Amino acid sequence: MCGIIGYCGSRNAAQLLLSGLKQLEYRGYDSAGIAVVHKSNLQLYKKAGKIEILRAIVPDILEGHWGIGHTRWASHGKVNDINAHPHTDCTGKIAICHNGIIENYTSLKKRLDSENHRFISQTDSEVIAHLTESFYEGNLVTAVKSTASLLEGTYGILAIHVDHPNQIVGVRNGSPMIIGLADKEMLIASDVSAVRAHTKQVIYLEDSEIVSMNSNAYEVSNMRNQPINKKIEVISWKLQEVEKGSYPHYMLKEIHEQTESIPRALSGRIDEQQATAVLGGLNMSDTELLSVKRITITAAGTSFYAARVIAYLLETLARIPTTTELSSELRYRNPVVEQGTLYIAVSQSGETIDTLMAVRELQRKGAPVLAISNVVGASIAREAHGGIYIHSGPEIAVASTKAFANQLAAMYLFTLKMARMRHMTWPEGKKFLKHLLNISNQIEEILNNADKIEQLARKYCKAKNFLFLGRGINFPVALEGALKLKEVAYIHAEGYSSAEIKHGPIALINPQTPSIFLVPDDYLYNKILSSMKEVKARNGSIIAISTEGDTQISHIADDIFQIPKTEQNFYPFLTVVPLQLFAYYCALELKCDVDRPRNLAKSVTVE
Ligand code: F6R
Repeated sequence: MCGIIGYCGSRNAAQLLLSGLKQLEYRGYDSAGIAVVHKSNLQLYKKAGKIEILRAIVPDILEGHWGIGHTRWASHGKVNDINAHPHTDCTGKIAICHNGIIENYTSLKKRLDSENHRFISQTDSEVIAHLTESFYEGNLVTAVKSTASLLEGTYGILAIHVDHPNQIVGVRNGSPMIIGLADKEMLIASDVSAVRAHTKQVIYLEDSEIVSMNSNAYEVSNMRNQPINKKIEVISWKLQEVEKGSYPHYMLKEIHEQTESIPRALSGRIDEQQATAVLGGLNMSDTELLSVKRITITAAGTSFYAARVIAYLLETLARIPTTTELSSELRYRNPVVEQGTLYIAVSQSGETIDTLMAVRELQRKGAPVLAISNVVGASIAREAHGGIYIHSGPEIAVASTKAFANQLAAMYLFTLKMARMRHMTWPEGKKFLKHLLNISNQIEEILNNADKIEQLARKYCKAKNFLFLGRGINFPVALEGALKLKEVAYIHAEGYSSAEIKHGPIALINPQTPSIFLVPDDYLYNKILSSMKEVKARNGSIIAISTEGDTQISHIADDIFQIPKTEQNFYPFLTVVPLQLFAYYCALELKCDVDRPRNLAKSVTVE
């Protein structure tokens, strides 16, 4: 989704902003722009399309040491040069960039129109430039503050004014914003990836905080003009973690990285002797954890499917009634919060607005919320009562893969802890750990056979529709497999419990609609086999993801991919990998933009 960067210092601002925007590309965008000031001259360049297109129109010798830049993901107004950010006011002296959505922009625009402000774009964001102009009386911070006080919706805003050399003003509400502190230069951005090349020292801005900075200093205050002392944090992601290395795509790299990322999620969190997990960040005592009567897990997209796997596991192993709910629904549903219910929000980015708002709504009602997130310091992680970082490392490809695996790993540990505090015995805990610690080796075995999945992708990628079918703990994995294929290969795919097909989807079965069955050797094996036979009887073609040594399946399936054997509760770690690879190779075969699929954004910070 939209990305923001601002810079003031002694280096060439245009080049620095352009490379910062490049680092934000992974978030997904459709246009980009920069505004750089040199000798009171606002130099504005913006273009629809990739950053390379913008770079081509920015003169190499463009002078200026401070400015702002933006990647836009269109919400209001078409994708074109005019709607790209930055936006300027009528005087051409103020430039702003905005992430988020201004919900009351129509009424604000009406008012500004009646005051003869001239709008040139169709965006909601342009009202910010004109409002700032209308409030400006020589102090940019005051003008931005007054503007922010009128805005409804979500925003991360950067503003500059040509008469205030070297000053950038930033304010946020619901959209992330961080300050990067370097030697005699200052950066401000929507996420750490844009500043990582220049500094490790960052400050996370909170909602309703406003920062004014120049190359040497920054001041943070709240809307009541009270100064705020901010903590400087050190970011730990290494630069090579965000590079592709020898892989052609981030998605493939990240699928392969699961073998290293899962051990990272487990590292230092296992008490082998007690056969349990040690999770320091929960901020809940064992007594509090023991008093949990129910759990609700909330999330969106892939994180939601990870949540569904865990709901299954928590009920099976910890015997805690657990439900899941899409965060976009939960936040508006006025949920009944009962004492004894623990809420868990799962989010790779930690910035998904639906999940963040669900967390806030739950907290307003007094509920304890734990966050399972990847990005250290992200809003959801900071605002939650406690949580577990999944430590998957930066996930750059828009389609989530290794984060799913690490969300599972972190929550499997949480389940182990909750189960060991209840009904799980020491030997059972030991066995659980044995299986969990073996998962990354087993994923490695699957990855060693990736070429088989590549062949399957070549064979089937021309199909227009797919069914992904699984049961029990693998049902959410089927949903995830369908989502991956839709996202990166733009092929229509439906995920179902295989038991459900007879209630409707079986009508879709024909030789042109392949079904991918997840059929590991678990207690539902024979049930799934029956569904496969129903599909075969209707001439449907079948790809089976089955377990090594399964000989029965070859009589029914057209193609088979075998995964290593594990205990039945651990199959989601393994069944998902061939599905991720299948989506990747289909996308490759169909020449899709694997890492940046059309219309999608990595961090969904608007509703
Ligand atoms: C799918 C995908 C999305 C995200 C969803 C939630 O590949 O990446 O469905 O899972 O937008 O994002 P987070 O986990 O950042 O809250």
